Amino acid sequence: MMGKVIAIDGPSASGKSTVARRVAAVCTGLYVDSGSLYRGVTHAVLTRGIDPEDASEVVRVLREADISFVEDNGAVTFRLDGEDVSDAIRRPEINRSVSAVAAVAAVRERVTQWLRDMRTHGDLVMEGRDIGTVVFPDASHKFYLNASEEERARRRHAEMPADDASVEEVDRSLRRRDKLDSTRKVAPLKTAPDAIVVDTTGLSIEEVVQCIVDHLGERA
Ligand code: DC
Repeated sequence: MMGKVIAIDGPSASGKSTVARRVAAVCTGLYVDSGSLYRGVTHAVLTRGIDPEDASEVVRVLREADISFVEDNGAVTFRLDGEDVSDAIRRPEINRSVSAVAAVAAVRERVTQWLRDMRTHGDLVMEGRDIGTVVFPDASHKFYLNASEEERARRRHAEMPADDASVEEVDRSLRRRDKLDSTRKVAPLKTAPDAIVVDTTGLSIEEVVQCIVDHLGERA
């Protein structure tokens, strides 16, 4: 049986991950972080010493890497070559290279297929950049979260270990990634015409979750 999908898209640090996880808990769906798969492929590329800008080598790694899926603590996650890489894929090197890898058409096709196949696990709350536009254009509910650039930089900076980078550096890195993600040729970040747009600037996580849950007609 195919489950229903709630799509939550938006730029980096718009609050998607925390919000999507909580919405999944309220709606008893499984949480899926689609960006983690692009990060996983990027991790496989970097650990093999491949240049992330070299699309044909990236495609070769994609063929070689062994990705398997597991349900873990309310989420569908993956193992790369049998290993849990959830910490490794958050490294700054991955942040710098993931947009190049995610712009390769063959990578997007493969990740899109993995994401679509997850529907067999049951109801899903999936967050990303192109879930409501490309992966599940027939999703039962679509949300697009946004926040001002300043607020997004502040939030991302607050999540990082002290002294790792200044707010200005985080701001520059986010802007660079958003630009790459929204101007790439294949499946650029954009709002689905039928998505409900939520500007999360100045809202708490609880308020955003409540707003989505109200739209879904469920009780938080
Ligand atoms: O959400 P995130 O920062 O973990 O995403 C990592 C990268 O993956 C992001 O720079 C763009 C890409 N991505 C994408 O292109 N499409 C998605 N559905 C999710 C992420």
